[in-house]
Amino acid sequence: MILYFSATGNTKYIAELLADKIGDECVDLLNRIKKDDYTPLHSEKPFIICAPIYVCEMPRFMGRYLKNQEFTGSRDVYCIFTSGGYTGIAGTLAKGIFRRKKMNYKGQAEFGMPRNYIISDHYPLNDREEVIRRIEDSRQKTDAVAESIRNGERLKTRYVFLFEKVVTLPFNPVWVKYKQQTKKFYTTDKCLGCGKCAKLCPLNNIRMTDKRPEWIKSCAHCMACIGNCPVQAIEYGDKTQNKVKYTIDKYL
Ligand SMILES: Cc1cc2nc3c(=O)[nH]c(=O)nc-3n(C[C@H](O)[C@H](O)[C@H](O)COP(=O)(O)O)c2cc1C
Repeated sequence: MILYFSATGNTKYIAELLADKIGDECVDLLNRIKKDDYTPLHSEKPFIICAPIYVCEMPRFMGRYLKNQEFTGSRDVYCIFTSGGYTGIAGTLAKGIFRRKKMNYKGQAEFGMPRNYIISDHYPLNDREEVIRRIEDSRQKTDAVAESIRNGERLKTRYVFLFEKVVTLPFNPVWVKYKQQTKKFYTTDKCLGCGKCAKLCPLNNIRMTDKRPEWIKSCAHCMACIGNCPVQAIEYGDKTQNKVKYTIDKYL
């Protein structure tokens, strides 16, 4: 069973390709995460968890969800990470989560996908040519990963240096506290009041008031709201005006 969270489509794209190649079902975790729905998940085939990388880790809300989720049937689990190029300590943390569940962590595969963090100065978006190249390279890589999983092989896991753990563990919460604020989100007059942004927010952090979204508290900056707005009406401070808000389907 392939389980994924995807804010702007990269992880969904890889998850669905793998599901097709492995011949397994693909489950979007968004609504389970939003509703704290921990109904046990059962599969006789390995569990394959697909996640984007946020600040060198799997999204913390996804880690929390996986810790609480019960998995029955197969005890094997793989992780698939999509990132802009650096997955940090995501694999180490995922291994810990599944070992505590007495599951057999069979390694991870990493896909360097287009960057989606449009509101950050630290992760500038890729140009169109690079976006298309990354999508194509990743699509090709799914063949080898699917074959290894079909054969029950371990996926080769990148060595994570001690300094990466020492730097990332305290860095992530500091970044989240000071850099992932919501006060700069706003909508322009184009906003239709459709509420899609609220539906896609994994943290239920957007409230619709008088048909306009309001960002309530600090969020994960996942980019689901800003990227998926049907009329590109969501902006963040002065960082996003006149820029294409990334979702993979604008390039497929
Ligand atoms: C809040 C945030 C933090 C990110 N941090 C990293 C990072 O540490 N390293 C990296 O390579 N890419 C980082 N990225 C890029 C995403 O991991 C990458 O674009 C991912 O494929 C997006 O997946 P999605 O389209 O399924 O949401 C970050 C993106 C966001 C929104």
